[in-house]
Amino acid sequence: MNGSTNIDGSGGDVREAVRERYAAAARATASGAGAGESCCGPAPVVLDDAAGTQVFGDVLYGAREAGDAPGAAVAASLGCGVPTAVAELRPGDVVLDLGSGAGADVLISARRVAPTGRAIGLDMTDEMLDLARANATAAGATNVEWLKGHIEDIPLPDASVDVVISNCVINLSGDKDRVLREAARVLRPGGRFAVSDVIADPDMDAATRADMAQWTGCIAGALTREQFERSLVGAGLVDVELVEGHRVHEHAASAIVRATKPPARAVGLAEATSACGSDAAQASCCEGETESSCCGTATAAAGSCGCSAGGRQQG
Ligand SMILES: C[S@@+](CC[C@H](N)C(=O)[O-])C[C@H]1O[C@@H](n2cnc3c(N)ncnc32)[C@H](O)[C@@H]1O
Repeated sequence: MNGSTNIDGSGGDVREAVRERYAAAARATASGAGAGESCCGPAPVVLDDAAGTQVFGDVLYGAREAGDAPGAAVAASLGCGVPTAVAELRPGDVVLDLGSGAGADVLISARRVAPTGRAIGLDMTDEMLDLARANATAAGATNVEWLKGHIEDIPLPDASVDVVISNCVINLSGDKDRVLREAARVLRPGGRFAVSDVIADPDMDAATRADMAQWTGCIAGALTREQFERSLVGAGLVDVELVEGHRVHEHAASAIVRATKPPARAVGLAEATSACGSDAAQASCCEGETESSCCGTATAAAGSCGCSAGGRQQG
């Protein structure tokens, strides 16, 4: 890894260091050198592990995925897996890619959800967005959109996407709980979360954790399996599943992480339960407007009292 600046763990300057590193990677790609190559100095990103085996990037894409995106987009991949291989995309879906980089996963998604669906790439780095737009033009993709912004503050309305994907980006954030809450917010009820990311072993050493180059290289900021699962549940997602894949570091592995936003009825029940609490509390919410503000989407049938979800209505 290049440049081993220490970090204090507060995450204050992490985002700018991440942005600079991936802007340099995008510039290297645009100049014709690979992001993981350099003629004359350290490469902007390292795609190999300590033994020299490539563990990030294009080698992870099988023929089916690679065939759905232009070669240049796949060649510029810096991911640690292939989220589109597990996201079960369907025509008509709206897909959001958190930290879309040069756009390979967005372009693969766009092809799978066409003709009525669309794929949105969100990234904070102008140079990456430029590469992605060029790759989309080369692919002739018309159902794609590129947004500049932060994954901690997704510039999309609530419940506006069917699937959130991401490839080796959440580990880079200084506030992962917030990223996962934002992902849950923009998902529609029943929507799917399917990402590749790096998972740290519980015993990752303090020197690795404190090394900025290891952070911007997708290792030091990684959550452990337990932390990731807890954060997803805390964000309100269910059916959480984390499957580890290949090793990317002495103390970390790639993983596929999947979860679901509860469907509307379950959301209604959660709202009803938190708004109304006990049956006695529900019984105080029986009239017209009071009932709907109390019970949310779980309002009981006309003429009955309390919230309908979960058989809690009375009289
Ligand atoms: C490791 S690269 C992965 C890019 C892409 N997903 C891929 O598989 O090739 C990380 C990308 O996430 C973007 N990124 C990192 N942190 C971000 C944040 N907090 N908000 C938005 N984008 C971010 C970077 O600009 C970069 O393009």
